[in-house]
Amino acid sequence: MNEKKVFNLWSIVYGLWFDSMDKFIIHKSSLKGTVKISGSKNASLPIMAATLLTDEECVIKNVPDLMDIRTMIKILEVLGKEIKFQRNVLIVKAKKRTSGKEYVAPYKLVRTMRASFCCLGPLLAKRKKASVAFPGGCVIGVRPVDLHLKGLRELGASIVVEKGYCVATTKGLIGKHIYLGGAFGSSVLATANIVMAAVLARGVTLIEHAACEPEIESLVFVLKKMGAQVEGQGTPLIKVLGVKVLGGVTVEIIPDRIEAGTFIAASLATNSPLCIEDINPWHLTSVIETARGMGAQCVVGESSISVNPGGAMKSVNLTTLPYPGFPTDLQAQFMVCLCLAEGISLITEKIYPDRFMHVAEINRMGACVRRNGPYSIIEGRDKLYGAEVMASDLRASAALVIAALAAQGKTQVLRVYHIDRGYDKIEDKLRKLGAKIKRVKQ
Ligand code: EPZ
Repeated sequence: MNEKKVFNLWSIVYGLWFDSMDKFIIHKSSLKGTVKISGSKNASLPIMAATLLTDEECVIKNVPDLMDIRTMIKILEVLGKEIKFQRNVLIVKAKKRTSGKEYVAPYKLVRTMRASFCCLGPLLAKRKKASVAFPGGCVIGVRPVDLHLKGLRELGASIVVEKGYCVATTKGLIGKHIYLGGAFGSSVLATANIVMAAVLARGVTLIEHAACEPEIESLVFVLKKMGAQVEGQGTPLIKVLGVKVLGGVTVEIIPDRIEAGTFIAASLATNSPLCIEDINPWHLTSVIETARGMGAQCVVGESSISVNPGGAMKSVNLTTLPYPGFPTDLQAQFMVCLCLAEGISLITEKIYPDRFMHVAEINRMGACVRRNGPYSIIEGRDKLYGAEVMASDLRASAALVIAALAAQGKTQVLRVYHIDRGYDKIEDKLRKLGAKIKRVKQ
């Protein structure tokens, strides 16, 4: 078959594959009412990895039903766990029969979800050996793991890279004073990995420049319920006194602050008053302050926020920072709001300087965003216009959905499998608020 025919065949197959993905069809919508937020994806994943630290049963409640959660379930099953997941409750037990290979997290699963790399620490601590595929980069950035490896080596792990796998062994981890700050500040999953390794290490581990995110606090809360001795969680200095063994646990996952922030952005962009419930408002201070700075009224309850945009939004300058700064995972969503604000805004992306894949797609909807390295300058416009746009990653796809709800006319958001990774039934939640959104299964 000549080259031309091969190319034509390939492009037909690619086109069929490309169209074989679900898409959203969305029309301009006003929203109204109350939305209940699910459990946090980014709190669930390290806690699921922590079950590797014990052979006893762990019951984890309020787990969101997401693709990333199901991927982590598959990884834990390969690593020797038996798992039941029903109605947002995970029951994790140790398999009775094992093959002896339950320390290898395979590339075919790890490459689909970088967070699986945080199995390395607990595996090493509990089984003294681990082989976890190196996670690749992704569209938001290179995603290095040097801090993870640095911390584990300081605890006494010997780590080699073999055929794309990170193969770690130890005779027994020993507590150490570890500085975990990197070029971009603290690292959430590196902190999680090192804490989970240190809880079974001999002696005291001090982790300096630890991540302060709520997801780290919730992980440590669970580890302490399992019998670990940890203090300083939520601050840049975490102290761990190693213990010999950890027991099972029953725990509930904290609310997803990024999902909550996504709905705040949807409220601002569509100029719709919303009540967002089942949240911890303390995890959203920087986001609430930003919404207020844009002119919205935010009334904070014990576990809710009522947002009333009140008309035209004001431009603001946004810089993403480690917690408690403005979260990088809400940068794309709030960019859409700023595209509809009066005046010029500046976004500085300090965590993932390349996290602007959404800019080109938003500009195709009539926005005026100029990216320059880690900066994006946004000239506010009166309107956005519906178009066929393509999701590139989890949070960018959420931003495109928000843009579609605010835009004139009809928008098709392609490749919504990205959004399924991190939002539990988002179209159902939006439809209940009055959104004109439907999923077209390909
Ligand atoms: C967590 O990723 C979140 N994922 C990300 O959310 C979030 O964007 C990120 O933290 C920052 O808040 C989960 O919790 C599962 P990092 P993580 O290590 O831990 C650099 C989403 O949309 N770095 O805190 O992998 C890194 O390049 C996802 O839900 C190193 O240099 O991120 C980045 O610039 C996307 N060396 C900065 O640190 C390392 O060894 C922060 O990354 C590790 C990270």
